[in-house]
Amino acid sequence: MYNKEKQIAGEKAVDFIEEGMTLGLGTGSTVYYSILKIGELVKKGFKVKAVSTSSNTTKLALSLGINVLPLDSVETIDLAIDGADEIDRDFNAIKGGGGALLYEKIVASLAKRVIWVVDSSKIVEKIGKFPLPVEIVRFGYTHTINHFQNVGMNPVLRQKDGNIYITDNGNYIVDLHLGEIDKPEELSSFLNSWPGVVDNGLFLNVSHLVIVGRGNTAEVITCK
Ligand code: A5P
Repeated sequence: MYNKEKQIAGEKAVDFIEEGMTLGLGTGSTVYYSILKIGELVKKGFKVKAVSTSSNTTKLALSLGINVLPLDSVETIDLAIDGADEIDRDFNAIKGGGGALLYEKIVASLAKRVIWVVDSSKIVEKIGKFPLPVEIVRFGYTHTINHFQNVGMNPVLRQKDGNIYITDNGNYIVDLHLGEIDKPEELSSFLNSWPGVVDNGLFLNVSHLVIVGRGNTAEVITCK
């Protein structure tokens, strides 16, 4: 469904791209607009390289003539642009609604600068209303889910079209219905300490800039 705020935020991020940069391209319906705009620049001869965070983004970027390279072939990522599912006032975020959290986290961790592009509904007082995605390996997944159930985290194994959802990395995703997250750092460490967990969708102290589409304008917020 078309959302003008997503388009405004997504397109605004392109102002921060300089010729010659290596970009990290995120995943989702907001960064989609950034990628379209990058494609337009590339068609006019603007030179950038990119790494991608998902098969969907790779497909889109290649179709627009953007030079997408394997992550291991680039030395550095100058700027990563990505969406988010919820962001609080301390710039803690939940990501992974689109299932690409692992590659998104790896790319963000390597990027010199990270910009998140969101519509205004994504800015919240406290994160946690949006179910927290956790990527888990398939081996013993029912036991991993039981563990989350036993500690009261209301896990739901993600499904797509009646089948279990499988990430680009060949894993499953469990969405934790937590309601509110009080201590995101502690929660992240707790989740990642469990065998079978690959990573979780908490992105803490990651972004440098958040661009919020609000009505007809893009609000640019510096985080660090
Ligand atoms: C992908 O796995 C996610 O982290 C997305 O970045 C996030 O879900 C935001 O998506 P939208 O821009 O489509 O809301």
